[in-house]
Amino acid sequence: MEEYKKVMNEAAEEAAKIQLEYFEKDFEIGRKMNYSDLVTEVDKRCEAKIIEIIHNSFPDHNVLGEEGGDLHKKSEHVWIVDPIDGTVNYAHSLPIFCVSIALEIKGEVVMGMVYSAKNGEKFFAEKGKGSYLNDKRIKVSDVELLKDSMLVTGFPYDAKENSNHCIDHFVNFIKLGLPIRRLGSAALDACYVACGRFEGFWEVNLNPWDIAAGYLIILEAGGKVTDFIGGKFSIYKKPVLATNGRSLHDEMIEVLKKSL
Ligand code: IPD
Ligand code: CA
Ligand code: CA
Repeated sequence: MEEYKKVMNEAAEEAAKIQLEYFEKDFEIGRKMNYSDLVTEVDKRCEAKIIEIIHNSFPDHNVLGEEGGDLHKKSEHVWIVDPIDGTVNYAHSLPIFCVSIALEIKGEVVMGMVYSAKNGEKFFAEKGKGSYLNDKRIKVSDVELLKDSMLVTGFPYDAKENSNHCIDHFVNFIKLGLPIRRLGSAALDACYVACGRFEGFWEVNLNPWDIAAGYLIILEAGGKVTDFIGGKFSIYKKPVLATNGRSLHDEMIEVLKKSL
């Protein structure tokens, strides 16, 4: 596991260097299928660098990456990579973005790192060994009730179609008068639950690279991750409800159930 951690750290550090080098400078920006879903030259450079570093040490491992990855090997090891989570923020020079890398072995996420270089914050978890922010152990908040909580959410790129009731859910929560934030980086949303800044995070439609590392970081910090009705969470299913695991988790399920 030490070798995996070393490679994960090197990949995250090198991607972060690229992100900082290009931040607020000129770079190519393209659009994916959805008009507001951007991809920059920097996303692609970071992912290529991460894959190179992983394959230097583990040439037989697969990489599931947002910008294409490399999934051609017969291996039980899958590195799950979001080269920039928060690309729209990055493209607008808003310093809320990160690189997210997780390692899945035989279908189980065993290690995850989320590095928010602009803020000097590196989150890390290994299964069974706790979660850390810059090498300091973190844990979820001990707020018990929804009425005392600050929440965070994100929207899919087709939000204007109210896909998966994403707007309805937001309205249902906002009507409770709660403070709700939308930062634009799901991996950081998850890590901020893990270190107690937020009590809960929900989002209707995430991809494995958005949440794989953050998922483990929340669990190892003592939090809870389920789907919207309290069922088993999978990084390969879309909805995520992640909280500090207190009774507010069930309270959030009741709100989410209003618009399923
Ligand atoms: C997006 C961010 C955003 C979330 C979107 C994701 P990207 O990832 O995590 O917070 O709301 O669902 O797609 O495109 O910046 O890697
Ligand atoms: Ca993402
Ligand atoms: Ca991305």
